[in-house]
Amino acid sequence: MAMITGKSKSLVIAFVSLFLVLVMSGPIVVEARAFFVFGDSLVDSGNNNYLLTTARADSPPYGIDFPTRRPTGRFSNGLNIPDLISEAISNEEPPLPYLSPDLRGRRLLNGANFASAGIGILNDTGFQFINIIRMYQQLDYFQQYQQRVSRLIGKPQTQRLVSQSLVLITVGGNDFVNNYFLVPYSARSRQYALPDYVRLLVSEYKKILLRLYSLGVGRVLVTGAGPLGCAPAELARSSSSNGRCSAELQRAASLYDPQLLQMINEINRKIGKNVFIAANTNQMQMDFLSTPRSYGFVTSKVACCGQGPYNGIGLCTVLSNLCPNRDLYVFWDAFHPTEKANRLIVRNILTGTTKYMNPMNLSSALAL
Ligand SMILES: *[C@@H]1O[C@H](CO)[C@@H](O)[C@H](O)[C@H]1NC(C)=O
Ligand SMILES: *[C@@H]1O[C@H](CO)[C@@H](O)[C@H](O)[C@H]1NC(C)=O
Repeated sequence: MAMITGKSKSLVIAFVSLFLVLVMSGPIVVEARAFFVFGDSLVDSGNNNYLLTTARADSPPYGIDFPTRRPTGRFSNGLNIPDLISEAISNEEPPLPYLSPDLRGRRLLNGANFASAGIGILNDTGFQFINIIRMYQQLDYFQQYQQRVSRLIGKPQTQRLVSQSLVLITVGGNDFVNNYFLVPYSARSRQYALPDYVRLLVSEYKKILLRLYSLGVGRVLVTGAGPLGCAPAELARSSSSNGRCSAELQRAASLYDPQLLQMINEINRKIGKNVFIAANTNQMQMDFLSTPRSYGFVTSKVACCGQGPYNGIGLCTVLSNLCPNRDLYVFWDAFHPTEKANRLIVRNILTGTTKYMNPMNLSSALAL
């Protein structure tokens, strides 16, 4: 290490005080919009890499089409939905996973991703993945984040950053796939008939959204459950059904989505502002599941990476079948969309009509 002489020492001090003057004088202008992400594997950008869990996407071929061509913890061949939204709203860079050691200093001002693969609305969802960041803990981390940012730019600026930010929350699918329908006669399915279970989920989700709102956010994009029963994993599970979507999971999604929308409308009415925006991801995906070719896909049933019927059995690993052109597939692995499918979804979120977005699309919402 270089010795600091008397002269360079005073130079260092001069620099430091110049820096302090620059920082202390005038407000720190936060130009780009901060972006916060909560939820499950559809939006996890690598938090689970830092946890002791089997729910992770940190080995090839995950990330094969990512700019670095390496796995990052994203459950996709390339970019995921948060990456593409971040790009569209001119957020400086896709928000780093909250557990990443690189998320500090100025980079905190860009936002953070709290999502964790395997989690659900309920605490008992994803219990088999052991050490994952459940919803209440993601919100605890968001509080901790705000304290850290307050130490950096002060409380009023932090509140401003949070109120002007965009939030994305994607959760709920695992409450069906990795809980209620995980095994026949699961604890939850013995406890609740499906319509009652859906009511429980929606009422617990409401508490989560209200807590998020109480933490100062001003604009929240909420995605519904996708067509859960049409994932290659489900097609493989009931291979007798000849590629038809699993009826019970489709029924679950069709009960859940309208109630979620109703709950969101209710909260907005109560708040008196359209803070929450619902994305009908089910409708978006049904479009390309029913006519894959008109969206440039060769199939919407077979996953690009996997094994067994529809490549829907087990995990996507280096030993799996791997398709040469990921853009031709809706599904990357047994559960998660390809970057190409994510792009179509995000385009609808940004500019879709009220068939897809309620009460308005994201570009209208951000222009308000
Ligand atoms: C989940 O667990 C946390 C912490 O124990 C608790 O505060 C919260 O109420 C639980 N949520 C549900 C839906 O049970
Ligand atoms: C969606 O966004 C576009 C702008 O990109 C806008 O022109 C259009 O009116 C919006 N549609 C709805 C239904 O909000």
